[in-house]
Amino acid sequence: MERRQVWIVDFGSQYTQLITRKTRELNFSCEMITLSEMRERVIQGEWPGAIVLSGGPQSLEQDQEDYQFLFEKEEIPILGICYGMQIMAHVLGGKVEKGHSGEYGHSEIHFSPGEAIVGCPQKFSVWMSHFDHVSKLPPQMTTVMLSQNGYLAMIRHQKRPILGIQFHPEVEHSEHGKDVLSYFYKNIAKLTTDWNAKIMLEEALQLVQKVGDESVLCAFSGGVDSLVAATLAQKVLGDRLHCFFVDNGLLRPQDYHHIEVLKKATPLNIEIIDARSIFAQSCQSLSDPEDKRKAIGKTFINVFEQKVNQYQKEHDIHFSYLLQGTLYPDVIESISPHQKGGKSATIKSHHNVGGLPEKMKLKLLEPLRYLFKDEVRILGEALGLKHEWVHRHPFPGPGIGIRVLGELSPKSVAKVQQSDQILFEELHSQGLYYSTWQAFTVLLPVKTVGVKGDARAFEEVICIRMVNSSDGMTAKWSEAPYSFLAKVSGRITNEVSGVTRVVYDITSKPPGTIEWE
Ligand code: XMP
Repeated sequence: MERRQVWIVDFGSQYTQLITRKTRELNFSCEMITLSEMRERVIQGEWPGAIVLSGGPQSLEQDQEDYQFLFEKEEIPILGICYGMQIMAHVLGGKVEKGHSGEYGHSEIHFSPGEAIVGCPQKFSVWMSHFDHVSKLPPQMTTVMLSQNGYLAMIRHQKRPILGIQFHPEVEHSEHGKDVLSYFYKNIAKLTTDWNAKIMLEEALQLVQKVGDESVLCAFSGGVDSLVAATLAQKVLGDRLHCFFVDNGLLRPQDYHHIEVLKKATPLNIEIIDARSIFAQSCQSLSDPEDKRKAIGKTFINVFEQKVNQYQKEHDIHFSYLLQGTLYPDVIESISPHQKGGKSATIKSHHNVGGLPEKMKLKLLEPLRYLFKDEVRILGEALGLKHEWVHRHPFPGPGIGIRVLGELSPKSVAKVQQSDQILFEELHSQGLYYSTWQAFTVLLPVKTVGVKGDARAFEEVICIRMVNSSDGMTAKWSEAPYSFLAKVSGRITNEVSGVTRVVYDITSKPPGTIEWE
């Protein structure tokens, strides 16, 4: 990775990734690092253009860490957010104490007399999440903003480029959050913008160039990440990039169509592996979601390895790299001491065909490893990929396998394929596809009574799931228009045999997950 001008030191707040994203949206290059990494770099004599200290769940009372070194160089700009501001106040001679009550959620803050930030009104609402607070200003610091409860909400150093913010400007719920971040980077740190699509492209291409003249293999799904990674790699590697698309029989009509389109419209060398019957066999009589996931993942690896080995023999090629669309959140997750484990780690292991590189003795090529999803989309468009290709909804690795609840059968898979296609067509025809983050149908393992023609029917239920989200970590169910839902429901009950009832999922995440299994 090239040098990044802003280092965001992670103290474990759930919002640290967002600081990184917002900083890049403001066109400043940045990276998230741990405190120990920061210490190592400083020992080597390396300093950034600016430091951001993130929030964190700790209390300074229990924290034995020595933070003095962060403030050693007077000219280095520092932004402390929430816990970061408390560290700043503590080191610079102020006082941090427990308040009478914490501030969580929305809070109104206002400027002190004579203080202002361009673009911000005198009062606005922000997102707070703290119990401790700075009770005494450090010498040489000034109060810029106060909260409605009288706590210090923003403080500024009179001589040094240092700003402390008790609220979270990086979260969407904070009004003028971006103006506040921009104020720090532009007015206090005086940085010049250095992050854009051209730089992202150059850096990603440099990562691919490290492959030299070896041949590269790609497990290609046609999803946004694998398409952008492959297109990028193809620019450097040409015919030395070989993409393999595994047809597991658990895809939707739109996925098959998409692969056909990409085969024709791009220079990518895409081989289709028909493994439908192998997957059907390996998933037979499984109904537990995790068993299904594991069986699908394991079968994928076996099929892929076997077909690729056969291909290597037939074409006298040796693959030494596996191209993967790993993104920055996955990389952060594996380096941050605070975010290990959890469900997302499981998602990643399937998504990134975990186990394959070791099994096939392949080195990894991950040209998107420093980028967020929205940046990958920008990069995709900069590479000339169509808007509709880089704005497709996410689709999980196990596909329809986890959208037929309970046991899989060709008939139940077909019901999801048909109903999903109807939903997909209506989303497009009514202009709702791109304003929805993810939408799909699920077959529920219950039968309900219905009337079809003059006869009583006892048939299955399809559930429509539509959500809005920015990263899939949290999501809100979409308020789809009734007329749209009525059209989709009418079409599903009429066109999909064996279905008499359609329901709409009105659960957000949390507490529900996006998928049903
Ligand atoms: P959940 O259901 O955890 O989903 O709220 C969050 C996002 O992750 C996708 N997802 C998966 N992706 N393999 C994948 O590649 C999986 O096993 C998997 N499970 C969930 C889901 O579609 C949503 O976008």
